[in-house]
Amino acid sequence: MADSAESLTTPAAATLSSLRQLTVSRRSALLGAAALFSTVTPRALLAAVPPDPSPPTPSVILLNGNENPYGPSPTARQAIIRSVFESCRYGDQAIKTLMQAIAAYDQLTIEHLILGSGSSELLRMSAFLAAEGGSGGEVIAATPTYEELPDFATRLGLQVITVPLNAQHQHDLPAMQAAITDKTRLIYICNPNNPTATVVGLKALEDFMRAVPARTRVLIDEAYFDFITDSSAGSVISWVKTYQNLIVTRTFSKIHGLAGLRIGYAYAHPTLAAQLTAKQLAYPNIAGLRAALASLTDSAFIHSTRTVLLADRARIEDCIDRLGLTRTRSQGNFVFFDVRQPLAEFSKKMLAHHIAVGRHFTGYDQWARITVGLTSEVNHLLTALPHALSTSG
Ligand SMILES: Cc1ncc(COP(=O)(O)O)c(C=O)c1O
Repeated sequence: MADSAESLTTPAAATLSSLRQLTVSRRSALLGAAALFSTVTPRALLAAVPPDPSPPTPSVILLNGNENPYGPSPTARQAIIRSVFESCRYGDQAIKTLMQAIAAYDQLTIEHLILGSGSSELLRMSAFLAAEGGSGGEVIAATPTYEELPDFATRLGLQVITVPLNAQHQHDLPAMQAAITDKTRLIYICNPNNPTATVVGLKALEDFMRAVPARTRVLIDEAYFDFITDSSAGSVISWVKTYQNLIVTRTFSKIHGLAGLRIGYAYAHPTLAAQLTAKQLAYPNIAGLRAALASLTDSAFIHSTRTVLLADRARIEDCIDRLGLTRTRSQGNFVFFDVRQPLAEFSKKMLAHHIAVGRHFTGYDQWARITVGLTSEVNHLLTALPHALSTSG
């Protein structure tokens, strides 16, 4: 007793005492957890999770990654939790199920479809295929554009021919066509384009496809397809039935809000699809597969998310206009505009307002790319913007 009475009066003994308590409480926690997991059922686990758990609040508002902060959809969240119980299994059947669902949704067949760990993997697989024809191959890409494919192609030893955007900040298709040589293996068109958020219309794309030699592949990246409002533009996935040299990529990272779960897909003619599949290095994970399957047909979520993001995109564009700045006409979940100061300076000022904006893009030293976030985040952005644009910040 004296021992314990004294132990509470000396710092070393007090530490020992709290360590003992910690050990005891840790042991009871482990026993408690073991008991929980021995009896837990999917239903109990789902019941323990609120239907719409609030995301952790970051200290900085992330408007730099073109993600959809409203995701995952409620049905996808439930599917992710359920997938815990399948995580000890390989995902072969889930891959097949998702492929069938996507192909049916888009009215194509699974022979036209390739699934990837994000569409980034598919962009890289396409570069692998382009590199296959031996040294000296060329890839044509716009500048600036999404760099994943051009950068990876360079690392594979392909020569990337960059073609500047036109005065409307769109892909300059006539100039890209003029850049084709007998060494051109692949042409990358990001539509809508990241970072400019501009589109090229279907008519111009069709004329371009007709002019490209059959030996040259064309990859059209439709990551931001769901945010298009321009009626002259749209998806070209059905064209893979006509053009045997066409690859179209899509992703669950944007409108579906599943960027962290890495599910993307591509369509191509079955022969090209099989060649691409042969280049695959990774397989999608079960949580992503189940979430994508649930989200694919969650039309209420897709509709409401699209509506709010487009409304907030318009609010940001209105604000940019009122501030008298030059911008592109956004067809993505992000805006791109001239901040009339070096981007590094503007970014620093925005960070002081707890907002992270997009990175620098070649040729656009004073332009910023800002993602449309939650409505509350957009409210904060609209308050911060005039301050960051003033000379004092
Ligand atoms: C145009 C474009 N394509 C593809 C991707 C890659 O998307 P993911 O690999 O998440 O499918 C991105 C990501 O920001 C992008 O902007």
